[in-house]
Amino acid sequence: MQQYLEPEALAWPLTSWDETAPFLLTPVTIDTARLRDGTEFSLVRRGDTWSVRVGWMTLMTSETHASEEALAERALARATRLASVLVGGLGLGFTLRAVLDRVPAATKVTTCEILPALVDWNRRWVGEFANHPLADPRNETVVGDVFDHIKRSCQAFDVILLDVDNGPRALSSASNQRLYGDRGIRACLRALRPGGVLAIWSVGANARFERALGAAGFDVEVLRVPAFRHGRKKHVVFLATAPGPDESSGSRAASPRGQE
Ligand SMILES: C[S@@+](CC[C@H](N)C(=O)[O-])C[C@H]1O[C@@H](n2cnc3c(N)ncnc32)[C@H](O)[C@@H]1O
Repeated sequence: MQQYLEPEALAWPLTSWDETAPFLLTPVTIDTARLRDGTEFSLVRRGDTWSVRVGWMTLMTSETHASEEALAERALARATRLASVLVGGLGLGFTLRAVLDRVPAATKVTTCEILPALVDWNRRWVGEFANHPLADPRNETVVGDVFDHIKRSCQAFDVILLDVDNGPRALSSASNQRLYGDRGIRACLRALRPGGVLAIWSVGANARFERALGAAGFDVEVLRVPAFRHGRKKHVVFLATAPGPDESSGSRAASPRGQE
């Protein structure tokens, strides 16, 4: 059962919290917020671990972030230009931090987050986990649906990182389905500069999505990356490279370079 907490108690420092109040190992809901379609998100604390949940599904925790960082690392390493990077979903800010730690001072980073409360939660409570990435002057935070932001953009980004769901088949809200369909994939291709990189986080593989990326013209790799710093569990990063300036932008068959 979850408990609600008096706001003044939240001012306690993180470390002394569990020593003095071990009963708090029970999950405690710190705040909840809803999208317009009614989808409820909650910020939950259990001891020193914080998580963002959507209904019963855990979207992100402060303990597990190796694959969210790998999403950024692998995509940035593949990119040939890093003038402009889009991060879709803020979560607890680990992907954004991994971007900021790897791009030059002149890179423009845009973080698009659908839930205004999530941005507030980062500023008030959980920003320290990823070393307060929202405070970096290279970052501009846009509150809104990343699908709409991508749809409005044309050859605007060198890299697009999407971690808004637990994968193409485990959505945080129903409307995110459009990101993984042909329309969403084509919008991403259009929003990228030639040769740009689209990377999508997923809890597991998805052959249909991989084929759809390939059919749209992306060169697709499916990377299996460690979920934790130590341990064998893996998550998946779809790494999709747009045709370069000299390549035809016509559709071609999916040609995955194999799993890692
Ligand atoms: C799994 S978390 C992201 C975790 C993040 N990579 C990190 O390192 O902490 C998913 C985030 O995407 C946001 N989100 C979900 N759908 C979205 C959408 N359509 N547009 C923008 N943000 C979205 C959620 O509110 C949540 O903050």
